[in-house]
Amino acid sequence: MSETNCHNANQTCWSCPAVEFKGHVDFRACGQAAFRKAAQGQLVVECKRRPEIGYFDPTSITFEHCTEWKKTDNGYLLDGMRVLILGMDGYLGWPLALKLAKLGCKVYGIDNMLRRKLVDDRGAQSVIPIETMEDRVKAANEHLDVEIDFREMDLMDRDSLFAYIKEVQPESIVQFAEIPSAPYSMADVDKACDTIQNNVVGTLGLLFGVRDHAPDASIIKLGTMGEYGSPLTGRPLFEGLFPGDAVLQYKGEEWSLGGELTPRDPVSFYHVSKVQGTFSVYEACKYWWLRSYDVMQGVIYGNQSDELAAHPSLSTRLDIDEWWGTVVNRFVAQAVIGMPLTIYGSGNQLRGYITLKDAMQCITRLIAAPPEPGQYDVVNQVTDVMSVKQIAQTVAKIGAEFGLDTEVQRIENPRVEAEEHPYEVIHDKLKDNFGFASESTFEDEVRGMFQALMQPEAVARINAQESKLFPTTKWSGEVGELKVLETWKPDVPAKEAA
Ligand SMILES: NC(=O)c1ccc[n+]([C@@H]2O[C@H](COP(=O)([O-])OP(=O)(O)OC[C@H]3O[C@@H](n4cnc5c(N)ncnc54)[C@H](O)[C@@H]3O)[C@@H](O)[C@H]2O)c1
Repeated sequence: MSETNCHNANQTCWSCPAVEFKGHVDFRACGQAAFRKAAQGQLVVECKRRPEIGYFDPTSITFEHCTEWKKTDNGYLLDGMRVLILGMDGYLGWPLALKLAKLGCKVYGIDNMLRRKLVDDRGAQSVIPIETMEDRVKAANEHLDVEIDFREMDLMDRDSLFAYIKEVQPESIVQFAEIPSAPYSMADVDKACDTIQNNVVGTLGLLFGVRDHAPDASIIKLGTMGEYGSPLTGRPLFEGLFPGDAVLQYKGEEWSLGGELTPRDPVSFYHVSKVQGTFSVYEACKYWWLRSYDVMQGVIYGNQSDELAAHPSLSTRLDIDEWWGTVVNRFVAQAVIGMPLTIYGSGNQLRGYITLKDAMQCITRLIAAPPEPGQYDVVNQVTDVMSVKQIAQTVAKIGAEFGLDTEVQRIENPRVEAEEHPYEVIHDKLKDNFGFASESTFEDEVRGMFQALMQPEAVARINAQESKLFPTTKWSGEVGELKVLETWKPDVPAKEAA
């Protein structure tokens, strides 16, 4: 490792999206390329930013030594790197846009405003008020002194998308533009089909656009930990691919599994769409030598980042209803209005979690360290594994610091899922290879959320959608109310109780 200790200091022009490979490059579908000699027995590249250097060996210059890569807190970043964020208006898209713009990237984005419409159709709303995209972009300019280029556009409108990719020539593309709700995808046939159509076809079209108009861009594709399911054997959830020493034993013989995709067992039709996205990206890297990190994203919670904090008009959305809210965000909102925290089934389901702020750091670090041409890799992006019961207990405990007396309720599980299962998540790569170090703890983030959600306007927004917080969508397709199985008050240390 370099003395600067930046995770990508020793990467070379070989992975830089700003170089062009010269000579004949044979992209073979087997995943191994034969680079034919361009000049005197060597593969060479030309720097699109510094053509005056002429042709050179791509391994001869490291990011640390290249004048185009500048050191930041998140590693070296290509100066003015052009990053295209698909789904920029979303929970993750907006804070990422602000973070990257503040780090000196040229940030471009699209969104078709579908999330706003679907939440509205449900009779729900973000508990933190958010501005229109036009006003957000203006506010970013005013309060953070950054320029962001946003276009309202559907990812499925391929003519417009491809023209935009051609125009922007992105060096990195972040694919957030999907419908991200498991219960929505299980609610009825139209919602299931819309989810599959939007997510699967959207990503597939994008891959052709990248192949034809920006083949050197790295693609950061958001998957989810829910792609893996929770295998009852206790097999560790490796980071997408089996490690080199994994072996299959069958009928007395052994085969190496090293490097193969690990099994997927998606937990809803939304998660099925994510698995298909994984395969589409994996194949595109193999067929066309695109490059991608597929991020198996844990459940995200919280609403904080340095850039979001700069002004209320920069806030990102925070949803809390059954379809659009993730569990921690929902529990805090329930506690704020004195509604029992609703645990599905036993509450012993284990899942991986990460704060919004940490997730933004991880994605930035991935953008800063592009994969090599043809490389497909997977990271498990989580910091903590917790049971739903543990989360409820902690939320109730922190609620007590704010004078809240919170009940917890076990209700019939609307989902079809294992309620007792082992769950060993391997999540080493972000720490070991990308220099990620968590900046926020579960308790602090939950505390921050209580502070935000106990403001009168947020309380009014939660109350207005109270009826949407209790689940109604059953995976089995049955109709009828879910029964309450048990209600109790978690033990909260006396000094913290109201
Ligand atoms: N939030 C989480 O906890 C979490 C966990 C795991 C994975 N993810 C994944 O991360 C990504 C972002 O999640 P999020 O929470 O920000 O969701 P989000 O719904 O807030 O953001 C997605 C954005 O994409 C837009 N969009 C959807 N389809 C589009 C299309 N066809 N064309 C243009 N824009 C479109 C939506 O309008 C929305 O603004 C998603 O792919 C999601 O599956 C999120």
